[in-house]
Amino acid sequence: MEREKVIVIDFGGQYNQLVARRVRECNVYCEIYSFRTPPEQIKEMNPKGIILTGGPNSCYEEGAPTYSRELFQLGIPVLGLCYGAQLMMHLLGGKVEHAPVREYGKTEVFVDTASLMFSNISEKTICWMSHFDYIAKEAPGFEITAHTVDCPVAAAENKAENLYLMQFHPEVLHTQEGTKMLRNFVRNICGCKGSWRMDSFVEESIQEIRKKVESGKVLCALSGGVDSSVAAVMLSKAIGKQLTCVFVDHGLLRDKEGDEVEAVFGPKGSYELNFIRVNAQERFYHKLAGITEPEQKRKVIGEEFIRVFEEEAKKIGTVDFLVQGTIYPDVVESGLGGESAMIKSHHNVGGLPDYVDFKEIVEPLRNLFKDEVRKAGLELGIPKYLVFRQPFPGPGLGVRIIGEVTPKKVKIVQKADAIFREEIAKAGLDQEINQYFAALTNMRSVGVMGDERTYDYAVALRAVNTLDFMTAEASEIPFSLLQRVMGRIVNEVAGVNRVFYDITSKPPGTVEFE
Ligand code: XMP
Repeated sequence: MEREKVIVIDFGGQYNQLVARRVRECNVYCEIYSFRTPPEQIKEMNPKGIILTGGPNSCYEEGAPTYSRELFQLGIPVLGLCYGAQLMMHLLGGKVEHAPVREYGKTEVFVDTASLMFSNISEKTICWMSHFDYIAKEAPGFEITAHTVDCPVAAAENKAENLYLMQFHPEVLHTQEGTKMLRNFVRNICGCKGSWRMDSFVEESIQEIRKKVESGKVLCALSGGVDSSVAAVMLSKAIGKQLTCVFVDHGLLRDKEGDEVEAVFGPKGSYELNFIRVNAQERFYHKLAGITEPEQKRKVIGEEFIRVFEEEAKKIGTVDFLVQGTIYPDVVESGLGGESAMIKSHHNVGGLPDYVDFKEIVEPLRNLFKDEVRKAGLELGIPKYLVFRQPFPGPGLGVRIIGEVTPKKVKIVQKADAIFREEIAKAGLDQEINQYFAALTNMRSVGVMGDERTYDYAVALRAVNTLDFMTAEASEIPFSLLQRVMGRIVNEVAGVNRVFYDITSKPPGTVEFE
């Protein structure tokens, strides 16, 4: 049976992955494609609906992303959002121009609840607006279905042609009834049944893996992070001991992390698989000595990782398949799906294909968003503390130690980080804050302890809230909690005499320090 699918056409806006995630929350499978994807290709995929996303451009300017008008004649329902809405109007004979009043933020929108798009929505509803252009006049055949004080066409539709548009962003949580609107589109207008469910996905994937792997040998680089853990357990359920997991302790893991991973996946753990732990700390420290430049550090760690993995793989001999924990945002961000730009060379413990002797790759999570990977993890019976683990970068503490990495600095960050995590958990904030950790600044300064002068390092604490890790805000941690953490760190961690709390959002900062 063919899986029903909605396609998101990406025009380069910042919320584009969110659109797809929201659609999937309505139990409808959804994929993202760049606006450069030809309409024939879209048509071939036989989607039940198409959504055009926002984007940073003005659609009437030369060179702005555009699309063939053919898209609106395929007989498939189309929903344009923000830039997508303006482009639809521009292409179909409406008028888009610079708005006299730029709208940004939560805005009161008055909607026509007789429209299928807004059925069961309040007549006056709060939506997220972010636009400097506006639709001054709708295209012929369209009817206005929503407006704001400053925006005459906040939504419109041509019901006969199945074309819909919204100036605001239903995908953003600030749009209070946004998911309901998207549900109206995919379920009521596109007629999707909503058959995308995690229990059946897991079951189907296990069957598919068995079929693909048959009696082959499979190798998996296990990091202990959510993605590789879920992938490993899925494989283990499918093929048991045909799977070998190699876990490289590069000495840049969090406090006690290596032992925790071993406890779950090792011989005393609860899964049927072969587990190999490689204690390669010294090798990594040796390679990292004297290196201070962030990208070079990332490269050295990534390359050394491959070397270590390769050596282990050689001991195992030829394998038939290599597992990669690639997830959907990786696919989109690597440019295969959407339009995003690369800021850092992300190292994922999966990126090894050139160096290991194998025939094929297995990527069981390739189509999943992070929250779906977690759901799959729960379906697979993986312990909750592993499933809801916060993200941890492949290069580990290497990118949380500014400047040269030394074993002594690693110990400092590990201890400070353990204290911070412990206190956040004690305060019951661990599920509220999306990512939090300690990092070591490369700054030393003068302090006083007892009657002694100190000249020690400053630890930076970072805690962020984010929906997609593309943008993030510093979490508002209670000051008393910060003070407690500071007190414990300066007392319990030798070599630290100052603690900073980083309040930078992303952009302009990134989540990690390097
Ligand atoms: P940045 O620092 O890019 O981080 O704002 C965004 C998210 O990605 C994680 N991150 C990485 N994850 N390999 C990974 O698997 C990497 O090289 C890497 N660098 C950053 C970071 O922890 C945050 O969740």
